[in-house]
Amino acid sequence: MAEILVRYIHFVGIIVLAGTLVAEHMLLTGQVSLAQMKKIARIDMVYGVSAFVVLIAGLTLWLAVGKPAEFYTSNPVFHTKLTLFVIMALLSIYPSLYIFKASRGKESLMTIPPKVINAIRVELTCLVLIPVLAVFMAKGYGL
Ligand code: HEM
Repeated sequence: MAEILVRYIHFVGIIVLAGTLVAEHMLLTGQVSLAQMKKIARIDMVYGVSAFVVLIAGLTLWLAVGKPAEFYTSNPVFHTKLTLFVIMALLSIYPSLYIFKASRGKESLMTIPPKVINAIRVELTCLVLIPVLAVFMAKGYGL
């Protein structure tokens, strides 16, 4: 039962993570007003919380419930999945800092730096690849 609950939490986290990241990508285009940027900052906070939920549920699945930890620890497919997640987390720092600062600034109309948009695009690419690795690793491929 604990495993089912944690898997559910992992999935809800992933759904919210994907939803907020897609929303950010759609809203951060061209010129953005201060009011809009404040809304994006709230979305980004939810994004951060969902990433944390995904991580905690993932760590619990790895180390505490379900299959033995060794099943994942010794699997390079799992390590690739983890690496992509870390890349996502690192890539999200720049857009998050930009959104945070811009939402508290005085500029009423902002042009989004291409670096912010590109970072989110690469994050989305990682997000598309991670589930493929997840299903393979769950089936024991790579062991
Ligand atoms: C955006 C990030 C992530 C996505 C999209 C994702 C996706 C998934 C999916 C789709 C599954 C179900 C696989 C299946 O049952 O076929 C899964 C399971 C799992 N995930 Fe994640 N995951 C993410 C992050 C993480 C992280 C950061 C960890 C570890 C710290 C982790 C550890 C696990 C574990 C241990 C399982 C259980 C696999 C099994 O049933 O044997 N995940 N994940």
